[in-house]
Amino acid sequence: MAKKLLKREHFTSKFGILAAAAGSAIGLGNVWKFPYITGVYGGGAFLLFYLFFIIAIGLPVMLSEFLIGRKAQKNAFGSFKELAPGSKWYIIGIMGVAAAYVILAFYSTVAAWIFEYVYLAFTNAFEAKSAAEINTLFNGFISQTYKPIIWQLLFLVLTALIVIAGVKKGIEKYSKILMPLLLVLIIALDIRAITLPGAKEGLEFLFKPDFSKISPEGILSALGHAFFSLSLGMGTLVTYGSYIKKQDNLVNTAIQVSAADTIIALLAGIAIFPAVFAFNIDPTEGEGLIFITLPGIFNQIPGGYIFSLIFFILLAIAALTSAISILEVVVAFLSEELKFSRKKATILATSTVAVFGILCTLSFGELSDFKILGVNVFNLFDNTASNYLLPLGGLLITVFIGWVYKKSESNKEITNDGSIKVRYLPYFRILVKFFAPIAIAIVFAHGLGLIKF
Ligand code: PHE
Repeated sequence: MAKKLLKREHFTSKFGILAAAAGSAIGLGNVWKFPYITGVYGGGAFLLFYLFFIIAIGLPVMLSEFLIGRKAQKNAFGSFKELAPGSKWYIIGIMGVAAAYVILAFYSTVAAWIFEYVYLAFTNAFEAKSAAEINTLFNGFISQTYKPIIWQLLFLVLTALIVIAGVKKGIEKYSKILMPLLLVLIIALDIRAITLPGAKEGLEFLFKPDFSKISPEGILSALGHAFFSLSLGMGTLVTYGSYIKKQDNLVNTAIQVSAADTIIALLAGIAIFPAVFAFNIDPTEGEGLIFITLPGIFNQIPGGYIFSLIFFILLAIAALTSAISILEVVVAFLSEELKFSRKKATILATSTVAVFGILCTLSFGELSDFKILGVNVFNLFDNTASNYLLPLGGLLITVFIGWVYKKSESNKEITNDGSIKVRYLPYFRILVKFFAPIAIAIVFAHGLGLIKF
């Protein structure tokens, strides 16, 4: 055991894990996807479901993932083989690798849009433009063929380079300083947004629940987004858990990561919705919501030029620190289980992801008429991963920890062999054994129309 621990890279400090795990969680999910789907599903009521799922399901699943990874000291696939030898639980690991592919494909499409926005901010292209003009600019860009693909490939290459550099030198170093800086900028955006004329309506949209607007699909999406935003259900945090030192406190880390992630999402919402109403943008606009709203807010801020430039650069970095954690799932699997070198594994994974990624990008242009189940490739990938693969992965993880894996063993891991007192433990047991699996199953069945309330 000691030998195995020595061989494996670990995050160097408490802040290191926190930065890396928060770096994974905080990304486009918070700033791009959270406002966009909150708008689509009607605001406040969606938000309430989302927050409830974070606390009652996300947190126990996160702790389960950390404990599985740290106990087993392996990638997601290998961890289940280690903890449940001779069983089929490693399927969670395989689903995770599949989910990583699907997510990275569409994630890199959105990252490409952010890269373009860094460029546009740099060239001052948003100055004095109305919301309608920015809308035209955005839609004109995403429907092109080559430019978005070039940005996308650049994003994937950067992701791959950091992953090749390895856990400590790569992941940890980049997350440490930049995430706090992003937080500061979002707060500045909030201050401007809530002082816009018409801001009140936006805040009401976000915080006043109207339950008549919530649909079974909306509830399923709130659950799916809780998983997506916290990076759960596909082994990312199992993999990161395996890099956490034995003396670190898993419960505190899980609480801090979830809290940071939720706060950033809420602050992003507080910036976006007042502006949506102030500029007369339709809250159900969809994927483009923040791309149309944000430049408008920057236009109203003194020093908006430099502000927007730094903001989009930070957002690009937030996307990178999430993307590396997604790619790491595939690379850890290929290198530890199939014995590829780290470099070969990364190149193989990134280049195959790029193929799917290009399809996602083209689904806003060349391939926009190509629909499967009524949606384009981009949305198909997003829905499949967020609303099905991740919650299903989460369901299996809770069943594994709640019912299959020995309780005394998981308690030992959570309490660092009994050396720390964990008041959350009894709640964790109930949530992971009963509440979370049952709730996920009900939301699934409800979302698919199998049951009705
Ligand atoms: N949580 C990341 C975000 O919010 C995305 C992500 C999903 C990362 C799944 C890892 C695993 O942007």
